[in-house]
Amino acid sequence: MNHRAAVSRRSLLESLCVWPLLSGLPAFARAAAGASTSPAASPKDVLNVMDFEGLARAALPPAHFGYIATGVDDDRTVAWNHEAFSLLAIRAHRFVDVSRVDTEVQLLGTRWASPVYLSAVASQRAFHPDAESGTARAAASRSALMMLSSASSTALDAVIAARSAPVWYQLYATDDWNVTRAVVDRAQKAGCPAIVFTVDSVGSRNSETLMRAMRVDERQCTQCHINNSHDFVRRSPLYAGLDVSKVKEYSPSAYSWDYLAKLRDLVRVKFLVKGIVTREDAAKCVEHGADGIVVSNHGGRDEETLRSTIESLPEVAAGVRGRVPVLLDGGVRRGTDIFKALALGATAVGVGRPQVWGLAAFGQSGVEAVLDIYNRELRAIMEQAGTPNIAAIQRDRIAVRGSASAFGRE
Ligand code: FNR
Repeated sequence: MNHRAAVSRRSLLESLCVWPLLSGLPAFARAAAGASTSPAASPKDVLNVMDFEGLARAALPPAHFGYIATGVDDDRTVAWNHEAFSLLAIRAHRFVDVSRVDTEVQLLGTRWASPVYLSAVASQRAFHPDAESGTARAAASRSALMMLSSASSTALDAVIAARSAPVWYQLYATDDWNVTRAVVDRAQKAGCPAIVFTVDSVGSRNSETLMRAMRVDERQCTQCHINNSHDFVRRSPLYAGLDVSKVKEYSPSAYSWDYLAKLRDLVRVKFLVKGIVTREDAAKCVEHGADGIVVSNHGGRDEETLRSTIESLPEVAAGVRGRVPVLLDGGVRRGTDIFKALALGATAVGVGRPQVWGLAAFGQSGVEAVLDIYNRELRAIMEQAGTPNIAAIQRDRIAVRGSASAFGRE
């Protein structure tokens, strides 16, 4: 580990207390979230998905928790992704029969019990021995869509076996076309029904929260892995047996629209682009044959744009004009966040950090509990708002809080 420094346990705790993620919380909330030494005994005791964060912190070595938590620079895009949902209010209708609420959605020809899916999260063995197989078993038991990261620490066939169905495959297209072609081939042969090309992880990033965490971690990272989260092409079983010696960038800084066209030609299954935040890019992706767009800024891990994904969603939906489904991830922490994203045009909503907070705290049952909480909260707001099914969640159910129009005469 480059930045390793031997520090006492006390200074570790002191430095954790000034982390931006925790500093905004009152002390009782930090304790309730598991930041104290008394973690919840069972995932069923955890009240909301955010409370898993403290449990994950308690369960993990500092560097591994720091890897989950980190954004870039001041982590303000991470925070804003979530906070921006509170710019929006929900308009509830009365006298609607909500005695039966149906959360089912259709996405690219498949029916899912819920619009909530597990977005790609790398290196899950760093969080719990259940790793991606535990997440896949949780996805299976809750019939949820799982998107497997290109940086998986578990082999594709093992994940598919644990899910009892093929998973969506998230692709980092490296700067070696032969490697890219080989992994796409493998995913297709394994039956993955969709390939999701991530395009928002380009260039350098200043992951200060991770670097701080590494400084207080007393273990040697290099005992288990090369000290670089981007070395996954050399470690992940998804690349086993491939010659990766020529790969320099896992997500090349020289991507072009021509490259997108070339990749689209290679992919025979559904092809989605993840990391789109503007109308123009969304329209061009559709013109280049994308079957779906994922509005994402990588959970604020790769850019400090200070633009939340929920703010980007309306213009992306406008660029897409209903031609393909739009998905969204980033800062989704409540059922009401899901509701708002659906109302603004998303067909499905992804979760990143919360799934691995759950995994770190309890393994498979933690991921299941996270999914259960999201779905319970979504059903609750659907009942409260008078929207008995997903189709009823339309744009007119949203008002912008504090805007002049909110107080104007109707
Ligand atoms: C990610 N994310 C991610 N995305 C991707 O396309 N490939 C990947 O390998 C990873 N790896 C990864 C690791 C960790 C630790 C995190 C937290 C996230 C991004 C992820 O798919 C998603 O876009 C964001 O996490 C969504 O934001 P929230 O839910 O974390 O706020």
